[in-house]
Amino acid sequence: MAELGHDVIGVDVDQAKIDALAVGRAPFFEPGLPELLTSAVATGRLRFTTDMSEVADADVHFVAVGTPQKKGEGEFAADLTYVDAAVTGLIPYLADGALVVGKSTVPVGTAARLAELVTAGAPHASLAWNPEFLREGFAVKDTLGPDRLVYGVAAGAAGERATAQLDEIYATALKTDTPRIVTDFATAELVKVAANAFLATKISFINAMAEVAEATGADVTQLADAIGHDARIGRRFLNSGLGFGGGCLPKDIRAFRARGEELGLGSTLAFLGEMDSINLRRRDRMVELTRESLGGDLSGKRVAVLGLAFKPDSDDVRDSPALDVAARLQEEGAIVIATDPEAVHTSQRIRPELTYATTVAEAIVEADAVLVLTEWKEYRALTPEDLSAATGRVILDGRNCLDRDLWRSSEWTYRSLGRP
Ligand code: UGA
Repeated sequence: MAELGHDVIGVDVDQAKIDALAVGRAPFFEPGLPELLTSAVATGRLRFTTDMSEVADADVHFVAVGTPQKKGEGEFAADLTYVDAAVTGLIPYLADGALVVGKSTVPVGTAARLAELVTAGAPHASLAWNPEFLREGFAVKDTLGPDRLVYGVAAGAAGERATAQLDEIYATALKTDTPRIVTDFATAELVKVAANAFLATKISFINAMAEVAEATGADVTQLADAIGHDARIGRRFLNSGLGFGGGCLPKDIRAFRARGEELGLGSTLAFLGEMDSINLRRRDRMVELTRESLGGDLSGKRVAVLGLAFKPDSDDVRDSPALDVAARLQEEGAIVIATDPEAVHTSQRIRPELTYATTVAEAIVEADAVLVLTEWKEYRALTPEDLSAATGRVILDGRNCLDRDLWRSSEWTYRSLGRP
């Protein structure tokens, strides 16, 4: 926002995060973000605080806090504690005409409820819902040049005013004809969860085909290429492998299902439960494939795991398939040495019991098998010579990202998910 010319103040309750941001240090790995942060802070148009009262004269307030899955066995719904606390905390500081803009991914019906709260506490302020579609790893690009803008606004004059305020915020993107959909609160909230549910379904569809391919000797990657040439289907998000993880897709399809149940639409969204199961079964298959490739027993076998982040160009390990598989292999008796270009420190926080290496060279020493579980560019480029220090000649490709012929021609046992 500061890069786009606005004066921005960022608020968080976490003092350590605010202190780091104030000196231009991003709290997570995201390509291009540190440079942007440094230049924006230097212009004076971006500053950070933990003191909510400092936002009192702002025209627009974005609420971008997390909506994680609720904790507890069998609990799938979104936890709205942080969104509610942020909006309630803002109300005393809302100036006349101020607009609160929800960015967080929320169950449908939340915006209408929060709009009432805002109007009750600050009668001359209003609320809009403006879902966020950025992808980790491309956050800067997706934010500066979004592929669409969706405004969920109230009916009547308040909605028109909110639309005009958002148009001013997004003037740069609108100048390049970015599509903009102005709609009601419920549609805006649903656009977000429907988009993520569709993407998750697409990935699980191809992973279901991988299961069929495994049973029949077919090749799922060629299948994906062939169906992807049909423009109605499209090749993107048809990469089979360990499946989806991260802080969004898994918890969003679960929360959507939970909201469906509340709305009496349990059967309508039941298929999302199936998508979740297909996705989680890929992790079981990876553990099985490793066991099979190591003679049917994991105990005492040395396994190098390359990749821990839920996807490349991220240090995010929330619900990461790679980290999950690494932990399960160790639970089943393997000696796991795991590495990742960016996600070792984040993995250590939630899986301190694993052994980590800082480089591939270190991780593969005396390994009986090498597993590639996140398709970082540097792992895709690995050659048999790079891994010659491994004891075994077994490479397992959890993301269908390696050149099968290259490995097999060098006398390695190459196995992957959904390919013979
Ligand atoms: C996802 C959406 O793509 C964004 O549009 C959305 O804004 C974001 O969630 C969010 O709700 O905040 P992100 O979680 O960054 O973005 O990651 P994706 O690129 O969607 O990948 C999700 C997972 O699916 C990763 O684990 C990735 O490895 C996996 N994936 C992706 C596949 O297994 N196969 C594919 O073909 C594509």
